[in-house]
Order: sequence, then structure tokens, then C-alpha cells
Amino acid sequence: MSQNWTKKGETMKSQKTITMIGAVSALGLFVTGACGGSGAAGVAGDADLTVLTDDPSVPAYTLGASLRNLSGTDQQLFADGRTVFATEEEPDEGLGPVFNGQSCAQCHSRGAIGGAGSDLSLTRVTRIGGMVNGKYSDLTEFGGPVIQSRSNKEFNPSFPHPREYAPKEAQFVSFRITTPLFGLGLMEAIPEADIVARANRKFGDGVAGTINWVTNPETGKTEIGRFGWKSQVSTISVFAADAYVNEMGITTPLFPNEELPQGMALAPGADPVGDPEDAEDTQAFVDFMRFLAPPSRSPLSIVAQQGERLFGTTGCANCHAPEYTTGDNVNPALHRQKVNLYSDLLVHKMGSSLADGIIQGKAQGDQFRTAPLWGVSKRQFLLHDGRATTFDAAVSYHGGEAAIAAGRYFAASESDRTAIRTFLSSL
Ligand code: HEC
Ligand code: HEC
Repeated sequence: MSQNWTKKGETMKSQKTITMIGAVSALGLFVTGACGGSGAAGVAGDADLTVLTDDPSVPAYTLGASLRNLSGTDQQLFADGRTVFATEEEPDEGLGPVFNGQSCAQCHSRGAIGGAGSDLSLTRVTRIGGMVNGKYSDLTEFGGPVIQSRSNKEFNPSFPHPREYAPKEAQFVSFRITTPLFGLGLMEAIPEADIVARANRKFGDGVAGTINWVTNPETGKTEIGRFGWKSQVSTISVFAADAYVNEMGITTPLFPNEELPQGMALAPGADPVGDPEDAEDTQAFVDFMRFLAPPSRSPLSIVAQQGERLFGTTGCANCHAPEYTTGDNVNPALHRQKVNLYSDLLVHKMGSSLADGIIQGKAQGDQFRTAPLWGVSKRQFLLHDGRATTFDAAVSYHGGEAAIAAGRYFAASESDRTAIRTFLSSL
């Protein structure tokens, strides 16, 4: 990750908007100073969650390794799961009729298997939505909610269904880049009560994250959404089955129906494998992702330590919460472990520049999950659609609940900003 202020070819939000945010910030600083009186002027951060210097109790991992303290059986499940995760599927195994990738690892590969995507043209996915009769719709009847941009024509030129495209009925078209999966099991093991407590806490700057409560289709229970750009899915298992059918066109007992190409009925012979097309792979994906170790941070330099403190006082940590701890867990690898996620897992109103209009569960068109910043130094593209490649560009698009923190960031001295960037580069 580059630490430069700007980078060649980088899309930055217009200077005008940045300046405007800066003005908001100055106001925020003034107000805080006027009523505060304690501590550093303008401190609006989450004081008790601000500083997290090198912690020897958090193990260091090679990217892509499995969690420590796994039993021999779990080690084996992890290794076997990784193989299935990286296996390319063919049409005679259920791939298609339309799909986005032939294996999970094709999109999740940056740094190690399980990582983010590398090539935007192959790993960025299109999600659509629109209004039908005054109500929000996933536009399933036109090929939504996810567009599959490849088809089995690649294997057989006479295959009847071409790739999908975003239909004219789509009022909202959102690009979504691939998220990394490192540490997913730890994220899943954070107690619901701790996320609820976080949502109920009062923060400065107008920060008011909410929980994306979703129905788990496996159990029918209402649970906290944690996964995906809008925290739209509550468990690794549901996401695995969802990805299998939406990205690869492979049906499972949980999602036994094919995604119909552009919403149209399947032509005779287009789908020879009976549904559900696979009953075992989902569990293998889960075993791999649940036991995948989190990204490790590098040792903190003096500047990075200063940046960590500034990350708190600037207000970034109000959403990018440095730490949760997992609850009691039958698996020692997941039991009472620190999760240095730099996310509260809540969704926040992020302003019009990031808003994509897509509604997922309780998350509205302008709401996104606080992007976890662990491992952010290994990322190439930032924000849900990958529009940014530098930290400064990513922050420049922070509006809505994040506008005051972003303004404070751009109003800070160059050396303070450098310190924050150095800190982010240590994650
Ligand atoms: C064509 C690219 C592509 C393929 C293939 C793909 N994914 Fe993904 N994956 C994505 C994108 C894009 C997202 C972000 C989706 C969103 O939230 O809108 C994602 C997100 C996820 C997440 C959520 C992680 C988080 O940060 O919360 C999980 C879990 C996941 N994928 C698992 C899988 C599994 C398992 C497979 C194989 C069955 C798979 N993916 C195949 C592109 C892909
Ligand atoms: C109100 C909550 C909030 C605050 C405050 C906030 N962020 Fe964010 N941040 C988010 C959300 C939500 C996203 C994801 C937005 C999207 O992708 O559309 C994000 C994304 C990011 C990303 C990109 C990460 C990725 O995976 O793509 C970086 C870097 C980042 N924030 C840094 C910061 C810094 C530095 C500050 C302080 C100046 C800050 N944020 C303040 C909510 C917040």
C-alpha cells in the first residue's frame, strides 16, 4: 500500500469537497474544545480503544496460515478445505449456466489463498437493485441481485445462454471488490452482546453505527450480520453457500435454485446436473475460512505508535474499533482470542459519494460496514468498489457519519497524516 499523498492515476474526490469537509472539521474541533477542557484539544476519539501497541499475546502468523491451537483433525480439515476452495469447477460439476469465477481462490488470492482480489476485471462483481411498484427489489426477474458476467459458452460455443449484463431496469448498479477472508473465524466468534453494546454506545462526531440484523436462512433466526460490504450475512456457512451459487452457479441444499440467466427460464439441456449440485463443498469452504489465521501486524515504529494514537484522536477508531475479543468457544483456537479487526462490524451512513443505493437486510443505500483495517497494508484496492488505492483517497470519500473525522484528518499537519499512514501500513 502506497503511503503517498497522491498517486499517479489515482481518483481523488474533488479538491473542492475536501476543502469543504475541512471547514466542517474546524467547526468540530472548536465545539469539542469549547465544551471539553480535558485532554488534548479536539480529542473526539474513542479514548479507551485508542492505543493498542504491540501485544505479545497476539500471535504472529504467515499470511494464509491456519490458526494456532488447532487440533490435528481441524488442521486436516483446514488443509482439505483449502484444496476444495482452490479447485476449479467445470460445467459437468454444476458450474454455471452463468458464473463469475471457476473457483473461490480465483477471486480470493491476494497475498495468499483466501486473500482479496488482485485483478479488478476478474474479481470485481456487479450487484444491482431497483424500484418495482414503489418497493425496493433485487431484480431477480432480470438477473439480479448479482450479475454473472461469464457463461458456459466459454466451454461450448453453442451453449444457449450468454453472459449476463446489468439490465436497463437496474436503477442501482454497485461494483463490489473481493474482500480478504483472513481471520474470518475470529470475526464470527465475537459475542453478539459485545457488538450490541458497541451499537448502543454514544460517540462524538455524529457517529451512530447500527446493526444489520438479518435472518439466517439455515436456522430462521435473527442474527447480527457481520460479513460482506454491508454486513449482510451472519455466518461463514451462509456466505459460502451464497457465494457458491452467486459466483459459481453451483447449487447446494441451502440454495437449491439456479440463478437464472438474466432472469430467463433455462433452455432445455442448459443445466444437466441435478440440484442441489453439491452437498459437501460448502462445509469444506467453511473449514478453511473459519480456521484461516488473521493478518499479522508488523512491529510498530515510533512514528507508527504516534499514528496509532492519532488514529484514535482523529476519530477514526470510533468506527474502526481496534479490538474485540471472542467469547467462550469449544474450540481453543477461537476461545477468548483478541480480534484486532479495526471494525465495529456496524453499518454507517457514509454520505452520497459512497452511497450505492443497494439495500441488503437493514443496510440502506448509503450504509456500509466499517471496513476492517486489519491486513489493509496488503490490499491493492480500497472501498467497496475499489475506487481508491491510497489511504488518503479512501478517507477523502468518507462522508456522512465519517465526515467530521475525515475533515479532521485533512486538516491535520502533513507529519500527523504521515504518522497515521505509517500506522495503517503496519496493519
Ligand atoms: C468472482 C469473484 C468471486 C468468487 C469466485 C468468489 N468470491 Fe467471495 N467475494 C467476492 C466479492 C466481490 C465479495 C464481497 C461481496 C459483497 O459484500 O458485496 C466476496 C466476499 C466473500 C465473503 C465475505 C467476507 C467478508 O469480508 O465479510 C466470503 C465469506 C466469501 N466471499 C467466500 C467465498 C467462497 C467460499 C467462494 C467460493 C464458493 C467465493 N467467495 C468465491 C468475490 C468472489
Ligand atoms: C463513521 C464511521 C467511520 C469513520 C469515523 C471512519 N471510517 Fe474509514 N471506513 C468506514 C466505512 C463504512 C468504510 C467502507 C466504505 C465503503 O467501502 O464504501 C471505511 C473504509 C476505510 C478504508 C478503506 C478500507 C478498505 O478495506 O477498503 C480506510 C483506509 C479507512 N476507512 C480509513 C479511515 C481513517 C484513516 C479514518 C479517520 C480519518 C476513518 N477511516 C474514519 C467507516 C468509517
